[in-house]
Amino acid sequence: MPDAVVAEGQAPFIPVNEPLLNDQTRRYVEECIDTGWVSSEGHFITDFEKSWARYCGMDHGIAVSSGTTALDLAVACLELEPDSEVIMPTFTIISCALAILRAGLKPVLVDSDPRTWCLDVNAVAQKITSRTRAIMPVHMYGHPVDMDPLLDLARKHNLSIIEDAAEAHGAKYKEQTVGSIGDLSCFSFYANKIITTGEGGMVLARSAEHAERLRSLRNLCFRPDRRFYHTKAGHNYRLTNLQAAVGLSQVEAMDDHLRRKRWLGKAYTEQLSGIDQIALPVEEPWAMNVYWMYGLVLNDDVPYDAVELARRLRAKGVDTRPFFLGMHEQPVFREQGLFVGDSYPVAERLAVRGLYLPSGLALTESQLARVCEAVREVFA
Ligand SMILES: Cc1ncc(COP(=O)(O)O)c(C=O)c1O
Repeated sequence: MPDAVVAEGQAPFIPVNEPLLNDQTRRYVEECIDTGWVSSEGHFITDFEKSWARYCGMDHGIAVSSGTTALDLAVACLELEPDSEVIMPTFTIISCALAILRAGLKPVLVDSDPRTWCLDVNAVAQKITSRTRAIMPVHMYGHPVDMDPLLDLARKHNLSIIEDAAEAHGAKYKEQTVGSIGDLSCFSFYANKIITTGEGGMVLARSAEHAERLRSLRNLCFRPDRRFYHTKAGHNYRLTNLQAAVGLSQVEAMDDHLRRKRWLGKAYTEQLSGIDQIALPVEEPWAMNVYWMYGLVLNDDVPYDAVELARRLRAKGVDTRPFFLGMHEQPVFREQGLFVGDSYPVAERLAVRGLYLPSGLALTESQLARVCEAVREVFA
């Protein structure tokens, strides 16, 4: 990812993200090259899995090739009967809905909380039917979901919970680290995540039974007793030792990464508070937000949308990304006859009026100040 792109006569462009790698990353990767352990066997895989599971407070870690494949495996490992329903937020990445559909199940959508932008936990109960088997809360842009009401519903209706914590590494719900609250949790380690392996992901599991099933599904369901004999259909979703070497060095740097994210969130909030035209990320009293990406939402009286805001900021050298478009508004699903007639006003508004600012781990104080100056100028 470019450090900063400089057009002639202009200040350097501030990218929305840059990963932060270190000397330990280089040493670990060199060890893979020196020893030849570059594929999906080698001690970095197990070291990475164990260290990330321990960091989050879960029992088992299963490293996979992406956050998307982590979701695929987490849903598949529940072995739910066809057409079972899984409740998820409409406002999230498409990977969540695809994982449910690929397992032959039905995604049932709920709207978002207008403050945290996470799924509205008060809207879940009314979506529970006799076919509901699981809930997939997604911790959004670094802020945790209010998990207790979901845990109550899960206990009452005997539902599994798959946390999608791809955007909230290290965030806390009350005293608990996200990814350790549900039965299973999924992480992405794409280059813009709080820890990265370039591409990669992990499923964390509480039960040994789930962990064993996940390991098997990740590796084509080879039978331990008879190698090329398959009684189940699996996938090749393996992570390489090279990527896990990067990942281990990133877990070791996690305290530093979280300090940077917390600083970024506080500094943006301090410098952008008081601009009437925008809403900023919140941190509920029960939450520790890790500000994976620092979002802004335009108030309704602003006579343009987030696409226009992005254009105005880009003209001032500031990169941004739009918020998600809800699953119920995705043409690919509409064409399949899914979510017909669904309407989720909060998510629809976020999709039109939200974007996020440069939030990389390497963002400097002066870059952050320049971003805030650009935002202030746009709304002056
Ligand atoms: C909430 C969420 N879940 C899952 C994913 C998928 O992760 P990946 O890009 O590693 O497949 C992402 C990607 O950014 C995400 O934001």
